Amino acid sequence: MQVIYLDNAATTWPKPPRVKEMMAEVIDQYAANPGRGGHALAMKASKTLFRTRMQVSRLFGIKNPNDLFFYLNATQALNQAIKGFLKAGDHVITSSIEHNSVRRPLEYLRREKQVEISYVQPREDQLFYAEDFAKAIRPDTKLIVTSHASNLTGLILPIAEIGAVARANGIAFLVDVSQTAGILPINVETMGIDMLAFPGHKGLYGPQGTGGLYVRAEIELDPLIHGGTGSQSEAVDQPTTRPDRFESGTVNTVGLAGLLAGVEFVMEKGVENIQRHDWGLAKKTLQLLQEIPGVEVYGPDLSVERVGVVACNVSGADASEVSFILDQQYGIATRAGYHCTPLGHETAGTINQGAVRVSFGVFNTEQDVEQFVKAMREIAAAFHS
Ligand code: ALA
Repeated sequence: MQVIYLDNAATTWPKPPRVKEMMAEVIDQYAANPGRGGHALAMKASKTLFRTRMQVSRLFGIKNPNDLFFYLNATQALNQAIKGFLKAGDHVITSSIEHNSVRRPLEYLRREKQVEISYVQPREDQLFYAEDFAKAIRPDTKLIVTSHASNLTGLILPIAEIGAVARANGIAFLVDVSQTAGILPINVETMGIDMLAFPGHKGLYGPQGTGGLYVRAEIELDPLIHGGTGSQSEAVDQPTTRPDRFESGTVNTVGLAGLLAGVEFVMEKGVENIQRHDWGLAKKTLQLLQEIPGVEVYGPDLSVERVGVVACNVSGADASEVSFILDQQYGIATRAGYHCTPLGHETAGTINQGAVRVSFGVFNTEQDVEQFVKAMREIAAAFHS
């Protein structure tokens, strides 16, 4: 049975062929340690790493590529940003749809450093408004941190408007673009973003073990990790120069070479075209699912654009069981349960049942949608017969 992969919000698959080729090229020809030696192979590795930094910076409108640091994933990047920025007693504003990668570091700081957190809720129409973030500001507010889009319903937050609120009030703004990097246009300058955490293995089509953090030059962070950087080795303290200050230890050169190929693939296709494709498939799926008796879908009205993520349930059926049947009987890969966002499920009203999540990538087709909807029709009929 040929697999229909509909779990692109967890990680995109398949990858463009050039990603694998690029990684193999590095392994075979020059997988030396970048920035750790002056020999030709190390220099070649450094050059590839720099090209990746340049291209990711271009994609996000980052002026100085040295303000971009590589990590293994968005979670590490978010931990560095949140724990490196907030001080004891600070107030932070976030949204009620955050992934655990934002919520858990914040709640850890609440317990350990008496950081205070305000969770902004969506309105009746299920949308978030920048004014509601503005209303939550207090004299001691130091940071606003939000996802760009929900990993459960695909709902998009008004990032540029929230960024304007943050800027007008002198508050730092951190955005988790785990579900939008390579999918929606992102520009840290025009959107007022001070820190941006991204995964390399989702919409940028790189391999797992890649991701990073952009930090505006004016923002001071305490590094979470200290160690060798290949620079100023004689100094006892961590160097102050970027990116070294935030990149101790050998980076994932092979993976980041793959990320370079992924980012170039995305740039060639164009993020607007990718979003049109992914949301087109998601919207069609939502429309067709709504017509099936006994199937529920979540999120705002369909006239509101989202990213290519659909949350649904067969009413009365356990989401994990439906996902299991889809996998075992139909060869359709989806993700069920709580998607590391119990907060998002509370907001969507699915905290008791969880949901089946279907998420699209550039290699999915209309036929995939039809196969999935047909399977859901049969499963719903079986549960309600
Ligand atoms: N954060 C990823 C997801 O939503 C892994 O599935």
